[in-house]
Amino acid sequence: MSRDVSADPHRPQYHFLAPSNWLNDPNGLFQWRGEYHLFYQHNPEAAVWGPMHWGHAVSRDLVHWEDLPIAMAPTPGGPDMDGCWSGVIVDDHGVPTMIYSGNSAVGQRACLATSTDDLRTWMKYPGNPVIPEKPADLDVGHYRDHCVWREGDTWLHLMGAGIHGQGGTALLYRSSDLRSWEYLGPICVGRAAETGEIWECPDLFTLDDWHLLLVSPIPLARTLVLSGTFDGRTFTSVRTGEVDAGGHFYAPQTFRDDRGRRIMFGWLWEGRTNEAARAAGWAGVMSLPRVLSVGPDGRLLSEPLPELSQLRERRRVYADLALPREETVVLEDAAGDSIELDLTIDPGDAARFEVALRRSPDGGEQTVLVYDLAAGRLEIDRSRASLDPSARSDPFGLNWAHGADRLIRLRIYVDHSVIECYAEGECLTTRVYPLRADSLGVALSAHGGAARIVSAEVWDMRSIWGA
Ligand code: FRU
Repeated sequence: MSRDVSADPHRPQYHFLAPSNWLNDPNGLFQWRGEYHLFYQHNPEAAVWGPMHWGHAVSRDLVHWEDLPIAMAPTPGGPDMDGCWSGVIVDDHGVPTMIYSGNSAVGQRACLATSTDDLRTWMKYPGNPVIPEKPADLDVGHYRDHCVWREGDTWLHLMGAGIHGQGGTALLYRSSDLRSWEYLGPICVGRAAETGEIWECPDLFTLDDWHLLLVSPIPLARTLVLSGTFDGRTFTSVRTGEVDAGGHFYAPQTFRDDRGRRIMFGWLWEGRTNEAARAAGWAGVMSLPRVLSVGPDGRLLSEPLPELSQLRERRRVYADLALPREETVVLEDAAGDSIELDLTIDPGDAARFEVALRRSPDGGEQTVLVYDLAAGRLEIDRSRASLDPSARSDPFGLNWAHGADRLIRLRIYVDHSVIECYAEGECLTTRVYPLRADSLGVALSAHGGAARIVSAEVWDMRSIWGA
């Protein structure tokens, strides 16, 4: 059932989302014969979580998307009768092959499907599920989601899980044909108090000399990145970080494109009530595509995909603008709810500076990115983001020891209810729902000292739909 969702002022225009109703995890990211495929967890019946299907869209540039019919639906009586949950697609000697979690009364089980028409339609393997039972030697509770790759003639496969009384884990399997799997054991087990009880959506990949393991732990509701080494059996982590510190980013998936780039999409969940989502007719949006790299210390670095610059329209430039102590400087011409900002700031002797977005002229509504140099903290303050008391207003942030001695570059994407901030490799993404139609302003301010805008470029951003 499709609904007219276009009337909703909170609906993003240049972030990917479903034509209507519910979206969660990105699935099956795959580049095939000149097309990028983005599948996603989708409830086509309502704007709330429900029986999962795989929605589907294709793109030639990872920026503009075309919706395709639903690719996967539950089969009555089958191992996925209650939902086709998250999974991946691999190239099995020229045959696009999907491994996903079929949901039924027994829980989730690994299932397989193949496509012979360029990923448009899928044939479920009659022998599903391909891994019928959980490992017998461990007390595994939740058990689902997949990361599959090939080494030589061998397929390796991680499934996310939780071990009762211990913590989240990723279980390793191997196969020569993707259909019959041998269980090898957990690649590592986290401590529940630190990295959660269950790891959803494990994704393991290499960048430079590092192995990086992304996991979305229950109940933490954020995505962690473990940096370390994987020796083929065991993953040894030396560093744990957060993929996006804004509190709305979850269950990402990555893929390697034909230029060798590691590209990630994540699910940005809503910050409004289920009732508000139902009334709007849609819920859930993808992050912008992010290109990943790794710092010398193993830190994950995320940058917006450079091709997104195609969406830029009218450009405004500000240079060398003073930010006097305790004064609010409104960038009059920068206003918008579909804009990109590229800011270079000299913090001067300020103890804190702020960038206010989606700001009403009187400041009654505004979402504020706060960099507190004294505390070494970068935060998104949503306390005044919306006059709607039911919209989420809690702050999120990270410790960020950038220091006062260097210029600071911030790249910010405002797209209606989505704000993504990139701070030199760190990400903070939030969701906001301002009620006032004039909550469009951009303003900067310095506190406890004076700072300077070295340069600010602002663009209106075009929609990713249509020509
Ligand atoms: C993560 C997740 C996955 C599961 C899917 C179901 O958000 O819970 O573990 O496969 O969503 O929609």
